[in-house]
Amino acid sequence: MKFSQIVQAYKDKGLPEREALLLIAKVLGKKKEYVIAHFYDECPEEFLESVITLFEKRLTGYPLQYIIGEVEFYGRTFYIEEGVLIPRWETEGLVELSLEYIRKYKLRKVLDIGVGSGVIAITIALECTNDKELSALGVEVFGTDVNEKAIALARKNAMRYSIKCDFRLGEYAEPFKDDWDSIDIIVSNPPYVRKGTQLQKELEFEPQEALFGGEDGLEFYKEFFKRYETSGKIVIMEIGEDQGEKLKALTGGEVLKDLAGKDRYLIVNKRG
Ligand SMILES: C[S@@+](CC[C@H](N)C(=O)[O-])C[C@H]1O[C@@H](n2cnc3c(N)ncnc32)[C@H](O)[C@@H]1O
Repeated sequence: MKFSQIVQAYKDKGLPEREALLLIAKVLGKKKEYVIAHFYDECPEEFLESVITLFEKRLTGYPLQYIIGEVEFYGRTFYIEEGVLIPRWETEGLVELSLEYIRKYKLRKVLDIGVGSGVIAITIALECTNDKELSALGVEVFGTDVNEKAIALARKNAMRYSIKCDFRLGEYAEPFKDDWDSIDIIVSNPPYVRKGTQLQKELEFEPQEALFGGEDGLEFYKEFFKRYETSGKIVIMEIGEDQGEKLKALTGGEVLKDLAGKDRYLIVNKRG
């Protein structure tokens, strides 16, 4: 069977062509450009069964990123694996806002709570290193997560980009309790889906504890602001589209929208 025929068969089942190319490339251990260049060649017999198995898995809704083991974020490629949340495009806005605040207030110590694959923390560290003005600040980035697998993956991603980030296992800011006073900005994309929410098929394959934020989806925010004194600090968190009003009332912060026009980012600025 030719690569072109395999791609067509799965396009017919509703899979985008780009995904089909990536899945074949994954089995061959090549880049998708190789498949494009050999589109009308026969798929070697020894690979065919694995190609079919991967396609069938993908058709169950299993996320493409988990199959290929990589995800794009803020123009870079990061490792991703089952058991760790797949980063979303909205979160790039959280990074952008964080960088704006770091620049504006010349912030030095950044804590990312719930690092997952590490994309927020690592991107902030990389952008601060690559920017002339920000690199002069000597920004340090710390991160926590309650998921051991996430911490291991975040460390692996930091190594991929040879960037120094201090990732520690533990809840909220607890692993950096002794450094709390010196932390300038807290960023986080916490679990915020309300319990009982019907998720789309692909989300069922993602770690549920990374998604669900208790009865009203607000458990993480309530606990964080109850536990920590944030005077003198900036807090920037991603939020659910229907949580803006409640979180404004809870924190006195402001809420900004994402590119889709939905409430998405909470900013609590207590630097005065
Ligand atoms: C929505 S995911 C975000 C992952 C990553 N920051 C991203 O944007 O792709 C939330 C992450 O927070 C972690 N988490 C949940 N509750 C936590 C807590 N109390 N303290 C630290 N991490 C927590 C989860 O394990 C998960 O990795």
